[in-house]
Amino acid sequence: MPLSSSFLFFFFFFLLLLLHFSPTRPESEPETLRLKLIRRAQDPTLTRLDRIRGLVHNDRLRRHRAAASPAPSPPGAFEMPVRSGAYAGTGQYFVRVRVGTPAQRFLLVADTGSDLTWVKCSYGSRKCGKKKCGSDPDAERVFRADRSRTFHPISCGSDLCRNDLPFSLTTCPTPASPCDYDYGYFDGSSTQGFYANESVTIALSDGHKKRKLKGLLLGCTSSSSGPSFDSSDGVLGLGHSDISFASHATAQFGGRFSYCLVDHLSPKNATSYLTFGPNRMFRAAPAVQETDLLITPKLDPYYGAAVIGLSVDGEVLRIPPSVWNVGKGGGAILDSGSSLTMLAEPAYRVVVSALSRRLVGIPEVKEDPFEYCYNWTRVGNITVPKLAVHFAGRAQLDPPVKSYLIDVAAGVKCLGFTSVAWPSVSTIGNIMQQEHLWEFDIQNRRLRFQRSTCTTT
Ligand SMILES: *[C@@H]1O[C@H](CO)[C@@H](O)[C@H](O)[C@H]1NC(C)=O
Ligand SMILES: *[C@@H]1O[C@H](CO)[C@@H](O)[C@H](O)[C@H]1NC(C)=O
Ligand SMILES: *[C@@H]1O[C@H](CO)[C@@H](O)[C@H](O)[C@H]1NC(C)=O
Ligand SMILES: *[C@@H]1O[C@H](CO)[C@@H](O)[C@H](O)[C@H]1NC(C)=O
Repeated sequence: MPLSSSFLFFFFFFLLLLLHFSPTRPESEPETLRLKLIRRAQDPTLTRLDRIRGLVHNDRLRRHRAAASPAPSPPGAFEMPVRSGAYAGTGQYFVRVRVGTPAQRFLLVADTGSDLTWVKCSYGSRKCGKKKCGSDPDAERVFRADRSRTFHPISCGSDLCRNDLPFSLTTCPTPASPCDYDYGYFDGSSTQGFYANESVTIALSDGHKKRKLKGLLLGCTSSSSGPSFDSSDGVLGLGHSDISFASHATAQFGGRFSYCLVDHLSPKNATSYLTFGPNRMFRAAPAVQETDLLITPKLDPYYGAAVIGLSVDGEVLRIPPSVWNVGKGGGAILDSGSSLTMLAEPAYRVVVSALSRRLVGIPEVKEDPFEYCYNWTRVGNITVPKLAVHFAGRAQLDPPVKSYLIDVAAGVKCLGFTSVAWPSVSTIGNIMQQEHLWEFDIQNRRLRFQRSTCTTT
């Protein structure tokens, strides 16, 4: 895990939180909130393979959170409560968020797989010190809650704490004591803190106007151990949950949010946005594909996509339909916080064999953790098999080849899938989502997507 520490030596590619707001827009059009999505500058001493390995490691941490879940699953159920991620700083998309009054700025991971928004935080005697948080409590990177007028701890005696907040602890020395949480991770990483009611400030695009989102549930993290959290100040929870930032922001901005993810290996100044409310980048049909957004307690806080199958070069793959059936322990989620696409074993097997069959003859090389990797240095003009993902309502995702035949090292490409044991939900990771605009229309339970370079005007 030297990954995260080496990141400390490199500049992040900071871009300001931006909001596009048109005061002249017609009354009927809902407001739009846009946050710039930021890619972190990568450590040039790491090879591409190191980075990809970092992604895999990172995804594993997230998955293992589910495996470590203490709740025994009832018969026919599956393990899914991956409420929060572990972030090693690679393969993630960040946003700048201003927390408190007066506002303090932080860089948070934008994660559709998390419900809780939290920041590294110091409050009273609970200091988020170097030892406990990997950060100096006086550094910019720690939220000093004492200085915020709008910061209000949620008490452990409250109904909210006792009944509704995830991972809250039962310890409650006095009813007015803060409502504590403890997130543990499989690799031994963990984050502890307490819940608070706080405001987040959104700066408008003209640089003068500001808007406050009040009454947000914020985790004040006073201790986080393990290397996973060295490279971010916290997490912006975009998951489906009453307590998430997404539910809060979409309630005020048009009932939907969208994002466009630039190529994960693209220059770091390539810009994309996380948008709340209508997104003008969407063109008219047929460019826009549309399907059902599956929102169900079985998947919460994840968003499910109504996948019905996969095809390679137009040939529909023979994958058992139960793989995509949420009721049968399957289904597919879209996760901005996982990088690789993880397929339930029965689907994984079929997909990699269909693709690898068409790549026979290209010299294979071994690159852990991938099963199929190829030495591409002498590969001439070949037609690479075209993968497509099919959704209910005839929607179809045609990812660019680089999204599933991933460049791992100079001249080496690998089939970018990992497998998870059945029964299990499959994950469409952020590499598979790249160069597309995705809209999560929560109000109407629709998922829209469109090919896009993600460049805005
Ligand atoms: C925060 O406080 C406000 C005002 O007291 C309240 O309306 C809101 O529901 C609270 N939010 C949470 C998450 O407790
Ligand atoms: C992005 O970076 C490249 C190379 O560093 C530079 O040529 C280009 O002008 C930059 N683009 C923007 C929009 O800053
Ligand atoms: C790929 O093949 C070339 C020549 O065929 C060879 O020089 C190179 O070492 C190979 N790369 C790997 C990673 O095996
Ligand atoms: C590669 O093959 C395609 C069609 O098979 C052809 O259109 C293209 O010109 C070829 N490119 C090169 C560099 O030979």
